[in-house]
Amino acid sequence: MIRSATPADTDALVALANGTGVFQPHEIVALREVLDDYHAANEAEGHVARVFADAEGIAGFTYFAPVPMTDRTWELWWIAVDAGRQGCGLGRTLIEDVEAALRSKGQRLLLIDTSSLPNYEPTRRFYLKTGYSQVAQIPDFYRDGDDKALFWKKF
Ligand SMILES: CC(C)(COP(=O)(O)OP(=O)(O)OC[C@H]1O[C@@H](n2cnc3c(N)ncnc32)[C@H](O)[C@@H]1OP(=O)(O)O)[C@@H](O)C(=O)NCCC(=O)NCCS
Repeated sequence: MIRSATPADTDALVALANGTGVFQPHEIVALREVLDDYHAANEAEGHVARVFADAEGIAGFTYFAPVPMTDRTWELWWIAVDAGRQGCGLGRTLIEDVEAALRSKGQRLLLIDTSSLPNYEPTRRFYLKTGYSQVAQIPDFYRDGDDKALFWKKF
């Protein structure tokens, strides 16, 4: 079942993201801040945090938000599936849930940033498999040698 995130989920979501082994320590710290800000204010501003939970517990989540000063353009800030449950279709289920939410509200575009580093290669393949096009790559964006890859889907 996919449902809205609650403040009680935060510890589990941070642990899940950390457990994927993909994110750097400062990104894990940022995730907690993002979730705290979400529950304090940003949910009311239109941001959305969704959680996949079943009998085995929380298995994944998404966080997406409108891009200010655009016409119905959105950004996926976070998607993560529990390391022990990857490769079973949960990531696809989560991203389709994001897309269904945006389509139902007449939204137009979803952008996803990711890193060019080799450890993000599976993530980049996941976005291609779920129908996103890589439309840009910004050299040295995150740091020297770590480009930003920008993925795009129009509804
Ligand atoms: C990226 C991530 C969300 C994908 O979730 P997942 O549950 O493993 O993916 P799914 O099982 O739903 O796979 C969906 C499709 O992507 C493909 N895919 C997933 N991982 C893949 C990989 N490593 N290589 C190639 N294809 C892959 C699957 O084959 C599937 O395609 P299909 O339906 O045509 O068979 C998950 O692996 C994850 O949490 N990674 C770590 C965190 C991360 O990188 N987040 C994004 C930061 S920008």
